[in-house]
Amino acid sequence: MGEHERSCETLAGSRRAAGEAGDLFCIVRFKAEREIDLNNREHDLRPGERAVAAPAPTDASLTFVGVIRTPWTDRAQCPRQGSPDGPVCVIEVFPPWVEALDGVDGRERLEVLYWLHESRRDLVAQSPRGGVVRGTFSIRSPVRPNPIGTAIVRLVRLEGAILHVRGLDCLDGTPLLDLKPDRSLFGAPAPDETSSGR
Ligand SMILES: C[S@@+](CC[C@H](N)C(=O)[O-])C[C@H]1O[C@@H](n2cnc3c(N)ncnc32)[C@H](O)[C@@H]1O
Repeated sequence: MGEHERSCETLAGSRRAAGEAGDLFCIVRFKAEREIDLNNREHDLRPGERAVAAPAPTDASLTFVGVIRTPWTDRAQCPRQGSPDGPVCVIEVFPPWVEALDGVDGRERLEVLYWLHESRRDLVAQSPRGGVVRGTFSIRSPVRPNPIGTAIVRLVRLEGAILHVRGLDCLDGTPLLDLKPDRSLFGAPAPDETSSGR
């Protein structure tokens, strides 16, 4: 068993009590360690390629609060952006975050943030359709230094820890980062709300 597999084992063991969230955490941590190693293999550079002194990675300690279930198991099958007429998908929220869903069923639309866990993270220029090459920050490609995806979804129904929604565009098993009410549903804040800073 290699060094990475050992650390992955340890992490998975220590997080097992947290259920599936632990396994997802393990996968992402494992990938991060592998990426750091790949950056150090300068002898693998091809003629003309250039490596930069990338800043040391920092750990934002993200917590996966759930998992997204969709009909898509292959990136090529996924829509490029979700549609309000897309298939009903399921967002499963893990304990202990289920209580945080209080009030969500009163929201018509939600903003979903998710971790595009199958993405590489090292491209600064890319051509997702094989056409024009563009800077990563000018496009919504899943390939980015921090592969966070966002979608506005329509809430179909909420059943306990399970949300049924339309409008997603991610792979089955994509880790859930956060849920927020769609900001376009908010008008200008009332004066007493402004003072709370929230
Ligand atoms: C263009 S991205 C848009 C994501 C999000 N709506 C956004 O704008 O931030 C959607 C594409 O990401 C890819 N994708 C979906 N889920 C993924 C995952 N878990 N890991 C890596 N790539 C994924 C699929 O190719 C999908 O068509």
